Amino acid sequence: MTKTKDQLRSARWFAPDDLRSFGHRSRMMQLGYDEEDFRDKPIIGILDTWSELNSCHAHFPERVKEVKRGVLQAGGFPVQMPSLSVDESNTKPTSMLYRNMLAMETEEMIRSHPLDGVVLMGGCDKTTPGLVMGAISAGVPMIYLPAGPMIRGNYAGKILGSGSDAWKYWDERRAGNLSEAEWIGIQGGIARSAGTCMTMGTASTMTAIADALGLTLPGASSIPAVDSGHQRMASACGRRIVEMVWEDLTPDQIVTEAACRNAAIVAMATGCSTNAVVHLIAIARRAGVPLTLDDLDALGRVTPLIANVRPSGKDYLMEDFYYAGGLRALMHQIRERLDCTALTVTGKTMGENLEGAQVYNHDVIRPLSNPVYEEGSLAVLRGNLCPDGAVIKPAACDPKYHIHQGPALVFDSYPEMKKAVDDENLDITPDHVMVLRNAGPLGGPGFPEWGMLPIPKALIKQGHRDMLRISDARMSGTSYGACVLHVSPESFIGGPLALLKTGDIVRLDLPNRNLDMLVSDEELAARKAAWKAPEPRFQRGWGWLFSRHVTQADQGCDFDFLQSDFGKTAGEPDI
Ligand code: FES
Ligand code: MG
Repeated sequence: MTKTKDQLRSARWFAPDDLRSFGHRSRMMQLGYDEEDFRDKPIIGILDTWSELNSCHAHFPERVKEVKRGVLQAGGFPVQMPSLSVDESNTKPTSMLYRNMLAMETEEMIRSHPLDGVVLMGGCDKTTPGLVMGAISAGVPMIYLPAGPMIRGNYAGKILGSGSDAWKYWDERRAGNLSEAEWIGIQGGIARSAGTCMTMGTASTMTAIADALGLTLPGASSIPAVDSGHQRMASACGRRIVEMVWEDLTPDQIVTEAACRNAAIVAMATGCSTNAVVHLIAIARRAGVPLTLDDLDALGRVTPLIANVRPSGKDYLMEDFYYAGGLRALMHQIRERLDCTALTVTGKTMGENLEGAQVYNHDVIRPLSNPVYEEGSLAVLRGNLCPDGAVIKPAACDPKYHIHQGPALVFDSYPEMKKAVDDENLDITPDHVMVLRNAGPLGGPGFPEWGMLPIPKALIKQGHRDMLRISDARMSGTSYGACVLHVSPESFIGGPLALLKTGDIVRLDLPNRNLDMLVSDEELAARKAAWKAPEPRFQRGWGWLFSRHVTQADQGCDFDFLQSDFGKTAGEPDI
């Protein structure tokens, strides 16, 4: 215990014998609390990203009660703080437009209120990075409570995986192999309980990253949302955050360079979503760790993928992963590669947290001698199409595309592409390279998950299910296929992707990490000179602010003015 009650942050609001503090105390009494309820106790904000449109967080009202129980048991005072519910399920054009809004809200709500510590409740894709980024910048002790994956999908005796099976069966529907009734049956069976997508999509990747950073209770990210163990974990978060306040265990002691490296290695070993690249860079930089795309590629080259969880793995889902021992078991399996001295929210090191962890099913969590894929899940490409980088998920695509050359078929907008792929007479071969541009952070707008471009109907009917696709968009973590994503700089701001023409030859050389268009420098210079910047997407509001300040994919898409090196953080409020 290093902190005394006079040193509590909340004491600045409630302790002084002055008029402002009188006001704060009287307003707490208006809420029905006596001074003994909230004075001299750690006040714990429970940042709750629940809404009735966020299906992944449907169990949060119950979990808030469990967190409160834990906080009260440990002698703290819990306060629920409804937070921006950035949901993947119903947000248009893309939830990514709002990740930074949640990060800003989190930082400012913590800073401006009498909170000594916070429990961050998130899970659906952008909520994890949004909450964590904001809380790192705010700097008070925090613990992350991951929503947990939903249970396996099921239809007609078949197991269904979030996202992945939606894409798969949609292709079958387009090929005429699935009836209306079967399609509706799948619709009702693919998401059957509260909780996040149960493939190793962005949600499970990002909560695993929070876990590997040391920001959750050990292994918390793997517990299914509706398991009673999840309820117990919620209450344990409440108890632990109170202790963390007295210990003054702040996020800067946890989110270190070693922790970020651990998180990147774990992400690679789980077969992470490509979105992890963008979010992990943004999180690390909030903590002053200058993580780059090249660091991630280097780790990707030497980290085997050992979680046999779809979409990169072949057979299993998050529920199976939990029964196989969960993230603690996976991390234990690769502990020699991790920095086990990294400090975590438990107040212990990562190594101590992993002690005794065991793998119970070696087909789900593979030994290093029998990985799902020898190299990690992500590769970073460079070349004249993507001087600042692009990413691909080698494990999730047909190996025949690892080295590929073919003519480009370029689309400037999603509607244009959608029309073409539905045209059964489209003039296209499996060697073509389909390209979508104006789909990046500024062009999308907001960096939508359009990168898994649908295979044209003309090819589907011939039995093809994969082809090389390139865009400056992201793709869902549950997606798969030979999709090159996050091309930077994006075409909307004049990146080289803007200069590509239909018919140009594109060459991918994955082993050497190259992506090029075989067009001469002179020709590219002439095209660049003729290029005209498109009209800005937004004239006012959040989109306008976003467009002015969002950084490119290789920089994590944080706002320039929120990055830790932009300027000094505001001091603590003193009046
Ligand atoms: Fe919420 Fe996938 S829609 S995690
Ligand atoms: Mg997703």
